[in-house]
Amino acid sequence: MSNYIDCTNSFIEERELENILPIVQVSDKLLKEGIGAGNGFLGWMNYTDHINTEELEKIKDSIEKIKKNSEVLIVIGIGGSYLGSKAVITALTHTFYNELDQQERKTPKVYFAGQNISPTYLKHLFDIIKGKDFSVNVISKSGTTTEPAIAFRFFKDILIKQYGKEEAAKRIYVTTDAQKGALKTMADNEGYTSFVIPDDIGGRYSVCTPVGLLPIGCAGINIDEFLEGIKEGVKEFSGENMDNPCYTYAAIRNILYQKGKDIEILVNYEPNLQYFSEWWKQLYGESEGKDQKGIFPASVNFSTDLHSLGQIIQDGRKNLFETIINIEKMEIDLEVPMDDDNLDGLNYLKGKGMNYVNQQAMKGTLYAHLDGDVPNMMINIPDLTPRSIGKLIYFFEKSCALSGYILGVNPFDQPGVESYKKNMFGLLGKPGYEEIGEKLKNKAAS
Ligand code: PA5
Repeated sequence: MSNYIDCTNSFIEERELENILPIVQVSDKLLKEGIGAGNGFLGWMNYTDHINTEELEKIKDSIEKIKKNSEVLIVIGIGGSYLGSKAVITALTHTFYNELDQQERKTPKVYFAGQNISPTYLKHLFDIIKGKDFSVNVISKSGTTTEPAIAFRFFKDILIKQYGKEEAAKRIYVTTDAQKGALKTMADNEGYTSFVIPDDIGGRYSVCTPVGLLPIGCAGINIDEFLEGIKEGVKEFSGENMDNPCYTYAAIRNILYQKGKDIEILVNYEPNLQYFSEWWKQLYGESEGKDQKGIFPASVNFSTDLHSLGQIIQDGRKNLFETIINIEKMEIDLEVPMDDDNLDGLNYLKGKGMNYVNQQAMKGTLYAHLDGDVPNMMINIPDLTPRSIGKLIYFFEKSCALSGYILGVNPFDQPGVESYKKNMFGLLGKPGYEEIGEKLKNKAAS
């Protein structure tokens, strides 16, 4: 079995993996031959192999332009249209990236908008960008999603007031469908620079496309290396037996699910991975949670959450398993300083690297949770670089697609997401949704 995934503590026997292997292979066949449910959305599997070089150059040109003329980039999008880039930027940049001074940062600050409907959030963001040169990257595959559409109206207005209509148009970058949607129409009419989200790639699988690449590149991350990492994943995770870490991960999580472990917790020991977990939760939650099935994807940031959720993981209901992301080598380390008085009793750690301490916290927790009957898998990544993050993203995407097919669901649709939208539109009086609105208002009144 590959070192990429360690299943020693999964409580799953070799025999169980052998038994489920044919089912994983059939799922892989559905993917590879494009004959499974949602087969119109498999473009992410080989996007990096035939990436449109002209589009890539256009992305790089735009990144350079934004770096030159903007102190801030506002990325507008929700769900798959923002979580991937937020995850990668948070993982790979300085923890306090936006707070660094321009000289140290060298690339624009990146803020996200349109991922909620809070006027407080938006107003606070307006306060942050006041008087600053900025550009906007608005991202929506459908081009009609309410949250980003509202945010874009505001930022477009501010841009026009600040720069005039013509210059404002030069600071708006649109990432949307090639043909349809309100955003596409707007981009064509106003002459905004625009990028295409391919038809055959759904939002949560789209970080390898302009959806992720433009914001990620603007934050100073090497997008070529990131794409190389994805390519490496495509190659390395193509095997058709349990040596393929995607097979093992998809198989074990399904076996554990069948045994009643219906909550998976993604664990990290680096705060920079917090948003990676948010991206992962969307990927797995939207892909698998349907037809009254699915593992609930949760996440914790250790050791922070050992002082909160650690208790319920250790001693609560035994319906959980953990997937730990282990980064083998972190670039930065700090030695615990010596203190002559030693009033805090910490001198037994003097000269020890904090990464070492963090590793011991991880091991200690792992043993404790095993005692508490919580199985785990560990994903080992060598470092925190664009390449290893790209590869990790592909690992989780491929595993998710396999896992969805093993579960018997379509991993590429999200019918449940529409329910709240219909109700919200009805309540807001959107034309075409009057009947739903009436029904809900009568419900509330009765
Ligand atoms: O994964 C998905 O498809 C969704 O989460 C979408 O990304 C999200 O709903 C945003 O949609 P859009 O990009 O059309 O605005």
